[in-house]
Amino acid sequence: MISFVPTMGALHRGHISLLEASKKPGCLSVCSIFVNPTQFNDAKDFENYPSTLEKDIDMLEKAGCDVLFLPPVSEMYPGGTKNLSAYDLGYLETVLEGRFRPGHFQGVCQVVNRLLDIIPADELYLGQKDYQQCMVIKKMIELAHLPTTTIICPTLREPDGLAMSSRNMRLPENDRKKAVKISETLSFIKNNIRTGSIETLQKEAIQKLTAEGFKTDYVEIANADTLQLLKDWDGKTPLVVLAAAFLNGVRLIDNMVL
Ligand code: PAJ
Repeated sequence: MISFVPTMGALHRGHISLLEASKKPGCLSVCSIFVNPTQFNDAKDFENYPSTLEKDIDMLEKAGCDVLFLPPVSEMYPGGTKNLSAYDLGYLETVLEGRFRPGHFQGVCQVVNRLLDIIPADELYLGQKDYQQCMVIKKMIELAHLPTTTIICPTLREPDGLAMSSRNMRLPENDRKKAVKISETLSFIKNNIRTGSIETLQKEAIQKLTAEGFKTDYVEIANADTLQLLKDWDGKTPLVVLAAAFLNGVRLIDNMVL
């Protein structure tokens, strides 16, 4: 059996937790590091994406990873990146990350589909940190009729609650301290949500982030199964609250299932 953890490197304990979950007796654990150019809708974000390859390899060795796949762009996209497949992701691509990062999820589908062509994984390990990405990749697997099962692992956080992310490395000390406000805002919603209108709560949450100096793309409360955005809660629908905000040019995302 092959288990597979795709990453873009600059590894942290969140990535390693996926690898640990994927390691089972008799199972070959494969990890990839590839900073996929087709999923970056912002050229600056691509250029500034952190790279810590030596440290990554060391972490993977210590965690007992069997195979590291570290392809160059030419191996991933031998025909170039211009005429790659398009995926009918429907509604999923129109909201949240899909709305604020046009083309991003097409790039994610292209790269994960290509990776799964090269690495015929039985199990694909993904982090809940990228909640919408998990749904998108499941949809791509369905559309491409791949035999791979997706396994979603919980978000690992720093002691103060900040979701671990490669992009956290780009935060200067002051901003790093402030960044925790995103998870605090999600907790604030989690603790204060009541049935009925949830619009005021959502607005308050955005105001909190703005007051701390964030440029907020969204704070949304959605149906956890469909990502349908909600303005009222019936007290029964399973919920997920999701946020994306910039702190001095560094874009951070997080979510909590309520
Ligand atoms: P990357 O951001 O490197 O993340 C690789 C995997 O690690 C993803 O499944 C992500 O959800 C998971 N992950 C990130 N932070 C985590 C945390 N704090 N706790 C648990 N898991 C976490 O996501 C990508 O790369 C790319 O889009 C990729 C799927 C590799 C396609 O290029």
